[in-house]
Amino acid sequence: MCGIIGYCGHRPAVPLIVEGLHRLEYRGYDSSGVCFVQNGELKVVRAEGKLKLLEDKLARMEVSLATTGIGHTRWATHGAPTEDNAHPHRSSEGDLAIVHNGIFENYLECKRDLQDKGFSFSSQTDTEVLANLIADECRSAASLLEAFANALKKARGSYSVAMLSPREPNVVYAARHSCPLILGVGAGENFVASDIPAFLPYTREVVFLEDGEIARITPTSWEVFSLLDRAPLEKKTTRIEWDMQAAQKGGYKHFMLKEIFEQPQSISDCMSGRADFVNFSVNIAELEGMEKPARLRLIACGTSYHAGLWAQSLLEGLAGIPAVAEIASEFRYRNVPLEPGEVVLIISQSGETADTMAALRIAKEKGAKTIGICNVVGSSIAREADTVIFTQAGPEISVASTKAMAAQMTVLLLMALHWSKDEHPRREELRRILTGLADIPAALRDILPALQSEASKLAARFASCRGMFFLGRGQSYPLALEGALKVKELSYIHAEGYAAGEMKHGPIALIEPDFPSFVLLPNDGLYDKTRSNLEEVAARKGPIVALTCAGKSGPDIKGCETWLLPEAYGPLNSFLMLPALQLFSYEAAAFLGKDVDQPRNLAKSVTVE
Ligand code: AGP
Repeated sequence: MCGIIGYCGHRPAVPLIVEGLHRLEYRGYDSSGVCFVQNGELKVVRAEGKLKLLEDKLARMEVSLATTGIGHTRWATHGAPTEDNAHPHRSSEGDLAIVHNGIFENYLECKRDLQDKGFSFSSQTDTEVLANLIADECRSAASLLEAFANALKKARGSYSVAMLSPREPNVVYAARHSCPLILGVGAGENFVASDIPAFLPYTREVVFLEDGEIARITPTSWEVFSLLDRAPLEKKTTRIEWDMQAAQKGGYKHFMLKEIFEQPQSISDCMSGRADFVNFSVNIAELEGMEKPARLRLIACGTSYHAGLWAQSLLEGLAGIPAVAEIASEFRYRNVPLEPGEVVLIISQSGETADTMAALRIAKEKGAKTIGICNVVGSSIAREADTVIFTQAGPEISVASTKAMAAQMTVLLLMALHWSKDEHPRREELRRILTGLADIPAALRDILPALQSEASKLAARFASCRGMFFLGRGQSYPLALEGALKVKELSYIHAEGYAAGEMKHGPIALIEPDFPSFVLLPNDGLYDKTRSNLEEVAARKGPIVALTCAGKSGPDIKGCETWLLPEAYGPLNSFLMLPALQLFSYEAAAFLGKDVDQPRNLAKSVTVE
């Protein structure tokens, strides 16, 4: 949930670290700091608030020429987002400093032991305890590496951590357990960071660290050791092909808007090599040789969960596989009996979500085959699942997930088609869906500007509401949940996604003239049922905006406005409705002047429980 970076090289470290932290801000941004060695002394500069405040502080200081350093941008887990709690944290004797992402679960018992040994603390963080734990190990270890390893073996929980000490001023040590950490291998310089954009302008050669590995970088070398016995490990470098532009805003006002408009490309990229639009066939190489699952359990959090819920009926209807979508943080604390032949699909854009990772590990412990559906190559879930299918949506920087969901839905639809091979009637259904799917990217590209313009008008009208409903049935129900989530997380307006058929069981009591309902009304078998729900809402003078398709003239209900979208076949309507919902929440947030890409209280990757 935080961003960390370390640098050893020939350039001034501080400006390069701060630049890298800017590219990691999406991982957390409530405080930040840097550490470097100056004239043999450890210097730590930290600031509460956005990274700009750290830059202002550094600008007022004597320029540092240090060429080794570490840095951190924080999303608070232990202790309020204050300067005292900001990273880097020094050991109380000041002979080392660390930056840390994750949760050190047994920090309190270690803190008590360390206090008994005379260590002092100036923060409420678990990280400072880890710094002193390493310092304590230094008292008996033969080397800094040994002390680092011994301390980490005592720490329980999740971490990616980087350490700097005046004892080895041109060396950064780093290690990971359950949190991402990647080496960047440059010419006369080396990096370690939570994510690749932090150092991508300087090198494309990366080494993905695994859990239980320690890295040691200097300006001219990089080594990886086993945490267990510090044995040197052979690791290969991987070349990153996507460019920095792809990770920048590309002319859009916000990453979120850029990523919404990237959806046509993301869907295309996700289909490439998997859907054959000439022979009307689907072939997912990652599933080759795998038996058709007897049962599927789709597990995820947030938006990714909504993608899983959306696919549930498709997997059942097209592939004849019983499927259930589960929220990871619920699944992990129930002792769920998994059936023989049951396959667990783990869906995660970042591939680092703690609850989802935990669910993956539980599923594996129970002997289930696991398939990860991830967007980040080298992410923890991608590497721990038995098989991984990448959504290939490109880097998603905005905290609000948009194009990743469209890509997840595409993968899941293709999986349903892949497994529908022996279902009947298959050929005709497969042809209709693939024909429609082939047209989706172009259709989306055509309508996105008009969707944004309509969304902007509606946002201006409804942004002052105290609350709103998003309603849908069948495959529109998960979209309703997603539409409500987007409004909540971006504009901070309370919004509730609800199954349209459930309104009469209580929620309709909320309906009044300033409580609008956005209703998803695709031209599907549930149109008339959902339309009758709207009659109930209209009868109570609740404003209604019905997102419907050109095939229908609209529900023709007094007080109900129609947001007309192009018609697509069956489940493909969702690919046109989803961006409409995303753009409404985007425009509402922009209208209200909210921080679109970094909404309050949120972070892009929730790597803590
Ligand atoms: C989506 O807009 C939210 N930011 C959040 O719900 C997110 O989808 C959730 O945290 C899961 O993230 P993941 O897909 O990276 O696992």
